[in-house]
Amino acid sequence: MAQPVRVAVTGAAGQIGYSLLFRIASGELFGPDTPVHLNLVELPQAAKAAEGTAMELDDCGFSTLAGIDIHDSPESGFEGVNWALLVGSKPRGPGMERNDLIKENGPIFVAQGKALAKAASDVRCVVVGNPCNTNALIAQHNCREVPATRFSAMTMLDENRAKAQLAKKAGVNVGEIKNLAIWGNHSSTMVPNFEAATIGGKSLTDVITDRAYLEGDFFTTVQKRGAAIIQARGKSSAASAASSCIDHVKNFLTKTPEGEYFSAAVPSDGSLYDIPQGLMFSVPVRSNGDGSYEIVKGLELSDYMKGRIGQTRDELLKERDVVKDLLA
Ligand code: NAD
Ligand code: LMR
Repeated sequence: MAQPVRVAVTGAAGQIGYSLLFRIASGELFGPDTPVHLNLVELPQAAKAAEGTAMELDDCGFSTLAGIDIHDSPESGFEGVNWALLVGSKPRGPGMERNDLIKENGPIFVAQGKALAKAASDVRCVVVGNPCNTNALIAQHNCREVPATRFSAMTMLDENRAKAQLAKKAGVNVGEIKNLAIWGNHSSTMVPNFEAATIGGKSLTDVITDRAYLEGDFFTTVQKRGAAIIQARGKSSAASAASSCIDHVKNFLTKTPEGEYFSAAVPSDGSLYDIPQGLMFSVPVRSNGDGSYEIVKGLELSDYMKGRIGQTRDELLKERDVVKDLLA
């Protein structure tokens, strides 16, 4: 069998960890012929709970699970890993915005960014813990050993949510919706760009002609879906977040079909779409199939979309300012 892919998951004893780990261990993420070694990274006080999760992982009898280690520090937990999935951090409660967590969660990503220097030379880091764009920025700044383009934050859940809403509205299968990219921050300013999307190969705006719905209910439903889930469950999304994290990594590992793209927050080099250099900004991305990617260039944006993207850009600039002391 091939060499195991080593994957660190922080927050392994948390809600998302409990959904995510089993899908990685089962072979779903890296394929049936690739063994996976899992590093479960937790706070010392949650290491016991992570042991329980590890016992259950063993009990599944996954033939692709080559080994599990539990770590109570990122320094040991990230040693030699090829993928670091940074989930561990506090979730928001009812009535909070995700960036209300910035002061409490931001410092976690300083220590974890530094610890990524111990990872394998090909490490890729995905940040899920909120506020994920700015946390990814903090981790990246604190790990200059790893190229910035190997860091991303997850907006795939937002893309999946947007597609599900549009599929219901149009009465089609969700797989018919393509190129629905999320722009900007994983926050209530995010921009689900419906103008460039297609349904069954046709322009989405020719199929869903109710512009008031697209600019109104559709936009706010997607922007506020996380809060609606917290309101309904009393806890933030977990299984859907884990599923979208699987999609995120799979998207980076699979060559994107011609003419298509997906959403991920990646560092801006300042050359595209007036996005300031360095921000972790969700944009349409195409994968080369080996984890590397390109931001899709040359997309036309209407004045309406440019205005919305400007709002989410300004919010990310403010978040960056709030954490400036954490950016090495
Ligand atoms: P949870 O409270 O159930 O679990 C979090 C876990 O992280 C806990 O077990 C905790 O002990 C651990 N943890 C905290 N600090 C840690 C550290 N420094 N190192 C290692 N582990 C640490 O939370 P959850 O529901 O699993 O959510 C985790 C994060 O993901 C939250 O910030 C949440 O807002 C975010 N989230 C993001 C998205 C997204 O789309 N980007 C979606 C859902 C949730
Ligand atoms: C989500 O989008 O479900 C997560 O970011 C959790 C949250 O705080 O909304």
